[in-house]
Amino acid sequence: MSYLAKNYNRKKIAFKYGKGSFLYSTDDKKYLDFVQGIAVNSLGHAHPKLIKTIRDQSKKLWHVSNSFLIPEGEKLAKELCKITFADYVMFQNSGAEATEAAIKVARRYFFSVGKPHKNRILCIKNSFHGRTLAAIHASGSKKMTEGFGPKVPGFDHIKFRDTKPRFPDIKHKIKKNTAAIMVETILGEGGIKVIPDKCLKYLRKVCNEKKILLILDEVQCGIGRSGDFFAFEKSKVKPDIVPIAKGIGGGFPIGAVLMNKKVASGMIAGTHGSTFGGNPLAMAVGNAVINIVSSKSFLNNVKKLSKYFLLNLNKLKKKYPNLIKEIRGRGLLIGIKLHKDQITFIKKLMENNLLTIRAAENVVRILPPLNVKKTEIDQALKTINKVCLEMS
Ligand SMILES: Cc1ncc(COP(=O)(O)O)c(C=O)c1O
Repeated sequence: MSYLAKNYNRKKIAFKYGKGSFLYSTDDKKYLDFVQGIAVNSLGHAHPKLIKTIRDQSKKLWHVSNSFLIPEGEKLAKELCKITFADYVMFQNSGAEATEAAIKVARRYFFSVGKPHKNRILCIKNSFHGRTLAAIHASGSKKMTEGFGPKVPGFDHIKFRDTKPRFPDIKHKIKKNTAAIMVETILGEGGIKVIPDKCLKYLRKVCNEKKILLILDEVQCGIGRSGDFFAFEKSKVKPDIVPIAKGIGGGFPIGAVLMNKKVASGMIAGTHGSTFGGNPLAMAVGNAVINIVSSKSFLNNVKKLSKYFLLNLNKLKKKYPNLIKEIRGRGLLIGIKLHKDQITFIKKLMENNLLTIRAAENVVRILPPLNVKKTEIDQALKTINKVCLEMS
């Protein structure tokens, strides 16, 4: 009997401990963990620098209210601004909170410049921005909104098909009261769909023409996951607002909204807050993660490993054309799109000690830690090959 609510369909497996890319289960099995808490443990399990940081900070100070100065948060915000487009940062605790806060920043900006009617957010239909009431309506998916009461107003939707370079219906969907377009730079839950650079550039152009804001949700694809610190960097597009979470805490809950000076002008004292967001313990961990993940050599290594992984997965696609339809993704955010339902495939990978997770459109999602070893990728490829052979 479990006293946990049944909102998850949990696999019958629990873990005692983890180290790097591996998890060790309570029934003494060793798993190669290519889920990593869904792109959360950017440095794998039990990274020595993160352990030391938590140990040191926990002896000093865990939590103080945001009504006092928090030097560790000042440091992390400064670093995030130094290495990205951002001028200001607001800390939260999770991805959904970060995307909600991003929406608030956009609306508040237009309020502050005397255009409070500009408050609608245009999103991609069936994308994913989290599970709060506003975030599920931002996604617009029936599955997530059904049964949760009145529709949260303020969201419109466009379609995205990667075969069409320019969102075909976007201009009709932007109205006088549209404040911002919000999209995931790479749709994670939606099936690892990379929005091509030319589409991102087009979105920026449309936002400039219509004088609205561009919000790029980098909760899953950010913090080095794509091989760049942010996935949008390759396109040279500069967003106005970027929610982040997952990888920045390396396993410790942190969320944040990054914003430029223009939009930050609306967020005056008292407009937003969070009891836990940006507390000293979380910020110490964030500083330790960014210190490692933002270095050029670290990111170059992610790109190198990704190239190797994708090349070999594409070889498997050629070898098993009746099973694998497409290899998707960028950096270490990878999807194997199958012709058929992916659940049995994922189950078989797990029986062979490789952990992966589903995404929409029959995709097997693969999320190794960013410091994964080449030998561990080889081990995963061998397992995937074995399961492909069994299933084809
Ligand atoms: C792109 C994106 N945005 C927001 C979220 C929500 O994050 P959280 O589950 O931390 O609330 C997720 C989570 O998977 C995500 O992938």
